Amino acid sequence: MIDNGKNPSHLGEGLGEGPILLLGSGGREHALAWKIAQSEKCEKLYIAPGNAGTATVGENVNIKADDFEAIKVFVLRNRIQMVVVGPEDPLVKGIYDYFKNDSELKDIPVIGPSKAGAVLEGSKDFAKGFMQRHNIPTAAYQTFTGESLAEGKAFLKTLQPPYVLKADGLCAGKGVLILPTLEEAEKELEEMLGGMFGNASSRVVIEEFMSGIECSVFVLTDGKDYKILPEAKDYKRIGEGDTGLNTGGMGSVSPVPFATTEWMKKVEDRIIRPTVEGLAADGIDYKGFIFFGLINRTNTPTGEPEPYVIEYNVRMGDPETETVMLRLKSDIVDLFEGVATGTLAQRKVEFDDRSAVCVMLVSGGYPGSYQKGYPITGIDQVEGSVVFHAGTALKDKEVVTNGGRVIAVSSYGANKADALQKSFTEAQKIQFKDKYFRRDIGADL
Ligand code: AMP
Ligand code: GLY
Repeated sequence: MIDNGKNPSHLGEGLGEGPILLLGSGGREHALAWKIAQSEKCEKLYIAPGNAGTATVGENVNIKADDFEAIKVFVLRNRIQMVVVGPEDPLVKGIYDYFKNDSELKDIPVIGPSKAGAVLEGSKDFAKGFMQRHNIPTAAYQTFTGESLAEGKAFLKTLQPPYVLKADGLCAGKGVLILPTLEEAEKELEEMLGGMFGNASSRVVIEEFMSGIECSVFVLTDGKDYKILPEAKDYKRIGEGDTGLNTGGMGSVSPVPFATTEWMKKVEDRIIRPTVEGLAADGIDYKGFIFFGLINRTNTPTGEPEPYVIEYNVRMGDPETETVMLRLKSDIVDLFEGVATGTLAQRKVEFDDRSAVCVMLVSGGYPGSYQKGYPITGIDQVEGSVVFHAGTALKDKEVVTNGGRVIAVSSYGANKADALQKSFTEAQKIQFKDKYFRRDIGADL
């Protein structure tokens, strides 16, 4: 390779010149864009469709993340060298395969799994079957359809309360019900199978309830090797003290104190390696992120807490990415090139020793109905924290609210308390009508 200064010696072999295209428009994508834009290997970054924040680190393109044909035209016209996929939707719809099977696109790497791999997130029944087949610890389960409703009710009777019912397909985070009594579980099972979530709940997974604290673990894999990224914990409920409705996530912290070296070794040996090997053994093409939604389960057969899998996602978490990217010291484009070229084993992953936290500012009313279009002020007053936009838009050159989750205020600290103090202080400076945020992020750890 000619030394043009673009491939410093601490980085691996590159793919060649050309801009990078990132798909998506949330806080996760702003955090990914922020990190990609810092790379010595990124000459230009486009984000489709992006938000007001991504426009500050790259160039937004008005194309929907799942409009494959428009993406193709853009990629060819702009000599894109790599496509990074933020959300699950394009993956579940098969963007990886679309590129692979197109004679003009086939050599342009897509960071994200094939459609067959994305089923790990797209079907809970598939994910459970995969874990069972590869001996990966997860809650015992059975899957039922409208025809097997009676068997489903009989299976519920064999379990202890509370009862966990999961729609098989994607439901934008709403497809899991946890019910305190058998009567409610039977009634909800009937409603789910009757079409409560449309086709997504034509099959329902019923599984054992696991108690414990949750932790999100992320890896990048090239299908053979993997690199573990910093772990994080997210806060899903709208209310302080983990009360009220589920949201997309109200904040996150990294590192997670119980994810010690010893605990992470168990996670790697029992969960991560068997997953990556299982995908290869099943002939599934997987080059991208795997998000392990884990729980440090306390109601185990031995009574000792052990890591179990709650679910897989085939993308990064949001708002976990808004802390994980702060703690990833390595060049992320170098890692993506390792994924694309099957040379991940040769790349280095280094973590920042500091703590990182993120506090999400949301629209009043979220996750129920809320207003959009309110002007946001004070972002330029923030000092020492990183402001990631989630649901924002530019209207007449002004930043306005454009979603439930509006802005993530991410901060480093010598420790968690320090980082939280910083985010809470800076969060006060950003103003929009009916702003709300949880003041207890990280307080349970
Ligand atoms: P999922 O969409 O599978 O991540 O489920 C959403 C949330 O429901 C998880 O983050 C957990 O808080 C909870 N959950 C899912 N499955 C279980 C389970 N088997 N036991 C306890 N809680 C669960
Ligand atoms: N924060 C959880 C998720 O991204 O699914």
